[in-house]
Amino acid sequence: MESYLVTGGAGFIGSNFVLSLLASGRDVRVVNVDALTYAGNLENLASVEDDPRYRLYQADIRDARAMAEIIAAENPRYVVNFAAESHVDRSIEDPGIFESTNVGGTVNLLNVVKSAWEEPDGGFGEHRYLQVSTDEVYGSLPLDDPSAYFRETTPLSPHSPYSASKASADFFVRAYGDTFGLPVLITRCSNNYGPYQFPEKLIPLMIRNACRHEPLPVYGDGLNVRDWLYVEDHCTAIDLVLHEGRIGEVYNVGGHNERSNIEIVKTIIRLVSERLDDPAIDDSLIRFVEDRKGHDRRYGIDPAKITAELGWSPETPFEEGIVRTIDWYLAHAEWVERVTSGAYQTYYEEMYGHRGAARA
Ligand SMILES: NC(=O)c1ccc[n+]([C@@H]2O[C@H](COP(=O)([O-])OP(=O)(O)OC[C@H]3O[C@@H](n4cnc5c(N)ncnc54)[C@H](O)[C@@H]3O)[C@@H](O)[C@H]2O)c1
Repeated sequence: MESYLVTGGAGFIGSNFVLSLLASGRDVRVVNVDALTYAGNLENLASVEDDPRYRLYQADIRDARAMAEIIAAENPRYVVNFAAESHVDRSIEDPGIFESTNVGGTVNLLNVVKSAWEEPDGGFGEHRYLQVSTDEVYGSLPLDDPSAYFRETTPLSPHSPYSASKASADFFVRAYGDTFGLPVLITRCSNNYGPYQFPEKLIPLMIRNACRHEPLPVYGDGLNVRDWLYVEDHCTAIDLVLHEGRIGEVYNVGGHNERSNIEIVKTIIRLVSERLDDPAIDDSLIRFVEDRKGHDRRYGIDPAKITAELGWSPETPFEEGIVRTIDWYLAHAEWVERVTSGAYQTYYEEMYGHRGAARA
């Protein structure tokens, strides 16, 4: 049996990861530790909440005592840290919470696992800690040099408070590996899309607004380029790196699927219009708005290392993934409404309050 402790498992990528592990057919146990911020939604995990292989703790990764108690009680072989404040725009409004959660929370978690896992001889047995990081730590690539890519050797050069906090956390993770021998791994992935993404992010926001005939706000000239990966492919990469990655290494995750924001928005308009058979959903809904401060121009991952060493490559072409994603959001309009109204935040009390679910 393989035991995982996942932090931030009620968020977008974390919940996809938890669901994919439990559906994998392997002998797994999954403990999910999530503070249930605005971005954590237990509805995402409703299908597994009674699964005896799954257990939820509502706890904060910054809480040393709570995290130590949970790790002692559950003794996971693997820790995968998804928990973070993840939205760049929010980091521009309130950088402090990004420093606190993304840096302080990560350092706290590293301390807790180090204490719990360290053996008398200084070794860490079969344990592994994986930090889920982002390509945004590398900064920005120029638009006029399409042959430039982020490689694992690219110096970190974050621009936003979000990416600065993630880069800082990466340095701490590496330091715990180098200094204490903690068996750490880091993945740096490009932009994800797919089911359960909070509709403040580009793709679900545009789908939602298009369905409602509301304006689709596009930053600046819309030419900023992101490298999109279907969330399931990211989850597969994380689990592969956890099992087969070389300890202490960084692996970039991405699939050479670069698109400008305006291209993404126009694709969504076309597909939502077709699927709802509604010609009123058209490009006239697009509104160019004031650019994001410090907006990175282009992200582009070179995934050569993970492909060569671990044989990973994405399985979902963008054309297929975006249709799947749009269909998921169209079929889950109530989920979108509850998430955007904040109503899902009462879900924990309704679903778990009477059951005395684990809280730390
Ligand atoms: N979304 C992307 O495109 C993308 C790409 C690359 C890397 N990442 C990284 O992947 C991870 C997950 O991203 P996401 O998009 O799923 O984020 P998300 O915002 O959807 O989810 C974050 C989760 O972390 C939880 N959380 C926040 N603060 C916490 C704390 N102090 N203690 C415990 N739990 C806490 C939230 O409740 C939520 O469930 C993040 O570390 C992010 O930096 C995201």
